[in-house]
Parts: sequence; structure tokens; C-alpha cells
Amino acid sequence: MTDLVPPHVERMIPYRPGKPVEELERELGIQNAIKLASNENPLGPSPKVVAALRALSAETCRYPDGAAYELREALAAHHAIEMDEVCLGNGSNELIDLLPRTFVGAGEHIIFGKPSFVCYWLAATASGAEFTQVPLRDHIHWDVDALLSAVRPETKLLFLANPNNPTGAYVGRDELSRLLRELPPRVVAIVDEAYVDFPEVDDYVSALELRDLRERLIVLRTFSKAHGLAALRVGYAVGPASLIGYLHRMRAPFNVNSFGQVAARVALGDPEHVARYVAMNQVERRRVAHALGELGLTVAPSQTNFLLVDFDRPGSEVYDALLHEAVIVRPMPPPIDSWQRITLGTPEENDRLLTAVASISRS
Ligand SMILES: Cc1ncc(COP(=O)(O)O)c(C=O)c1O
Repeated sequence: MTDLVPPHVERMIPYRPGKPVEELERELGIQNAIKLASNENPLGPSPKVVAALRALSAETCRYPDGAAYELREALAAHHAIEMDEVCLGNGSNELIDLLPRTFVGAGEHIIFGKPSFVCYWLAATASGAEFTQVPLRDHIHWDVDALLSAVRPETKLLFLANPNNPTGAYVGRDELSRLLRELPPRVVAIVDEAYVDFPEVDDYVSALELRDLRERLIVLRTFSKAHGLAALRVGYAVGPASLIGYLHRMRAPFNVNSFGQVAARVALGDPEHVARYVAMNQVERRRVAHALGELGLTVAPSQTNFLLVDFDRPGSEVYDALLHEAVIVRPMPPPIDSWQRITLGTPEENDRLLTAVASISRS
């Protein structure tokens, strides 16, 4: 106990990002390491984005447009919604952090899955609210009944990542519709669609198509994954203007920088770039999952740009062994600490991963 910070701040743990390539190369004195740890687009951004950023480089002396007018206008046109139904964030992470602070008052309660995106835990803990982490079925699959059973009279917010990070599983149209219908009206349902571009199953649907089912629904999207803009930190929330207005009150001024605003707008205008990556990812997802299965490993079914793989060995041992093969993956916390989350890279990167996995399996 300390008298310096409140107990919920004491409980916080700094977010641990995937290890940067440069850090591993420095540590081991090696070159050509590959990072398959943070679910980034291995093809990089659209060349149109790169050109637009170059043209903007002399503008660093000016503050960004605090209202991000042009990007919000482009997003509103893209989704056929109103501009006041969109709030941008410094990555969707900023919005995840803002949501409990905005909507959850003293004595109210938050629900999210376990395992699910670690930032829900961070945001809920930082807000000081009580929360329930609902176990996924076999640690992998969403269980809508269990989510609904966790609702209490004081529940105010629910986070659902669809598809889920780190398991890759998704909730299909029927179950998602049921969840959105059956949650009590006071609950603000957050459907985080960071991986919306990657599913190839007929029954996956964006919650943006289900907005008629409940008033208190906010959908989160990001430009960090399929669009290849992770460095620029642009995400957004879509919901009724009556809810989104509160996020605008709570967000920091100028929370999205000029480069992010321009890059996101240009990326939105280059859907072919995203389509090329998504097509590659689908082919590689099948190929790599099959090859890892052939090596005797269990691979969770994935509708994302990563695979969750059970090595049936202590996670830190596998993670370190792969680091020594110059491949960075993402170790997982209990209860899935024998699993690694592995981002799908380019075909060449994935070949290197498979060679590394085969090599550490023999050792
Ligand atoms: C489910 C989920 N939501 C949100 C994010 C955060 O994305 P951003 O880069 O927009 O903050 C991630 C990133 O890994 C994620 O996996």
C-alpha cells in the first residue's frame, strides 16, 4: 500500500509491446530478424500514403485540425453515416482507454473476455471500475451465454473483440445479434473490429450492419492493421451522436496528428492495397496453419492476420528459442501460456517462421 496513488493505479501494469526487431538484433548481435508479434501489415502502407506523407513533411510546425474534419467526412461517406457519429482516437487504444472513463461511473461494472485484448484490462483497471473477465470456451471461442450471464444490475460497458485478439475466433451474425438484443438497454456494447478485414466466413458480419438492434452500440475500427498505418496511431469509434459526443468531450485536444489524418484518408481511398494484403493473408493463413499442424502443433482456427499456436511447452522457452532463430513472436499469459500468437507475414517471412519452428521442435 502507498499513499502516493489510489489502489487501482497501484494495480496497473505497463503494457508490454512486441519486441522491436532492432532491440533483438542489438541484444543477440544478429541481422535480418523478423517480427511476427504485433499483427501489422507486412506489405507496409499504400504507396499513395507514402507520397502524401512526403508532401506533408514541411507542415510539422502547425497543429493538426483538431476536428479532423476531412478524415471524419471521408469516414462518414465511407460508412454512409453522419460526421457526428464518428470520433477519432490516437489509435483505437485511446478510445478503449476513454470508454470506461466516459461511460462507467462509481459503482458500475465492465465485462470483457478472457483471453481477449489486454488493453480492456488496462482501461478497466485504470478507470477504477469493477470488472468481470468471462472465460472463453476452451480458452479460444466466444461464449455469448457466458457473457450474458455475467451481466449485473450495475453493468455499464461490455467489450467484445470480433474477431478476437489473441484467439482469432469470431462471433457469427446470429450470436452477435442475440448478444446485442439481449444485453440490457443501459449497457454500452463496444464491438472492437480491429480485424474486420480478415474473416472469410459467410456468417461474419460487422456490428455496423446491426446498429438497428440497439441504441447503445459503439463500433471500434483501426487503421493499424489492414491499412498498414500502425506507426501513425489512427483509430475511430462509430456510434449514435448522443454517445459519440461524450467521447469528443473526453478526448485530448489534437489527439490525432496531421500525418495520421492525411494517411488514413488516403488509405481509405486505396482499397486495392488492403485487398491485396487480405488476399495474401488468406492464402498464407491456410498454408501456415496446415504446415504448423503437420509439425504436430495445435492451431486455433483464425479469422485474423495471426495464428494462436499451442506448442505444449513452457511459453517462455519457445519464445526464447524462436528469438535465437531471429523470429519474434508473442508469448501469452496464463491460462494460455503454452501458446504463442504469431502474426502472418509475407510468404518469405512465413517460410522462415516454419523453418525456425521445425528447428526448435527438433531441439
Ligand atoms: C482487438 C484490438 N483492438 C485494438 C487494437 C489497437 O489498435 P490501435 O493500433 O488502433 O490502437 C488492437 C491492436 O493490437 C487489437 O488487437
